[in-house]
Amino acid sequence: MRLERLTARGFRNLEAVERDVPAEGAALLGRNGQGKTNLLEAIYYPVLFRSLRGSADAEVVMFGGAGFHVAARLASDTAALDIAATYQTAGKRKRIVVDGADVARLADAVGQWAAVAFLPGDVALASGPASERRHYLDRMLSLADRAYLAALSRYRAALAQRNSALRQGRGDLVTMFDAPLASAGALIVERRLRWLERAAPRFATELASLGEPGEGTVRYHGSAALADPAAWPDALERSRARDLARGLTTAGPHRDDLVLEVGGRELRAYGSTGQQRSAAIALKLVELETLAEARGTEPALLLDDVFAELDGERQRRLAARLVRPDVRQVFVTAPRADELPAGVDLPRWTVEGGKVSA
Ligand SMILES: Nc1ncnc2c1ncn2[C@@H]1O[C@H](COP(=O)(O)OP(=O)(O)OP(=O)(O)O)[C@@H](O)[C@H]1O
Ligand SMILES: [Mg+2]
Repeated sequence: MRLERLTARGFRNLEAVERDVPAEGAALLGRNGQGKTNLLEAIYYPVLFRSLRGSADAEVVMFGGAGFHVAARLASDTAALDIAATYQTAGKRKRIVVDGADVARLADAVGQWAAVAFLPGDVALASGPASERRHYLDRMLSLADRAYLAALSRYRAALAQRNSALRQGRGDLVTMFDAPLASAGALIVERRLRWLERAAPRFATELASLGEPGEGTVRYHGSAALADPAAWPDALERSRARDLARGLTTAGPHRDDLVLEVGGRELRAYGSTGQQRSAAIALKLVELETLAEARGTEPALLLDDVFAELDGERQRRLAARLVRPDVRQVFVTAPRADELPAGVDLPRWTVEGGKVSA
């Protein structure tokens, strides 16, 4: 699926957008603070119906506005689809419409439009806390696999209820949530481990192709045994006293992590900024391959200031790997056209004071 037409109203600083989108994508050019990242955010919004910056919907609403509306017309060679989201500040209501029909559950709309975003802050995938890598896993696997998305939402609901019972010291209630936690949690761990089998060698290959010396490895940090629902009762039993004392659930995939290493040393602790950046890009490339494989079609790519910090040779290599209009739609931001890597030849859009023009 490619984005064929984009509509955005009341979205951040963007002046009403109503544009046909070229099949190959576009280079978004403009000075700092003009709305380039906001435009990428609008393009990404119908992927997860959430801000790609992780902002709350209320923050996405144009200052002083009553809500926002984003619509995307998607098309492949054989099909077309319209998806739209409307958020109203009053009552915090979000309405999602697919091909003219209201969608009751978010899960039924997620996954129609897939994109992978490379953001400047993504280096935190390698340098930041475990929560960064869990978000990465959860976002990617939710888009790749509907069963994962469903399990994740059941898991989060059971976890919130269990934690609430723990905080109130209600040992009698806690066990009520153990069964739903176990069945959803086991699926999450199982799918993560299955993903890792293919992802680990890919991560090593991508890191090497980015010119990083030393072998890259990625391991799962957490209890692999919990991929089996039968292992949960014991695990929860063993941690129950501790959970009650702390008022939260200490066993399960919501505490797990991915350990990234280069040459046997953990990147988070010992990696240079350049190594951490390469590892984060390699993880993103694995995300791209995972989604392309799971969906049988290439996701779009949103590249926000990705090239700015790389030297010329790395820029060229990464651009050649990613910016392939024959294969996928690509949106890339830069202050000026001459700051795009050599060979990046996309239709140009200018973003100035929130106004997008071709
Ligand atoms: N909810 C909002 N309503 C109106 N304007 C907003 C809102 N949120 C952010 N802005 C404004 O949008 C502008 C930033 O836009 P954006 O982040 O897209 O810039 P950019 O073109 O990507 O700049 P840079 O090159 O510095 O990354 C800022 O001026 C900011 O004040
Ligand atoms: Mg920006």
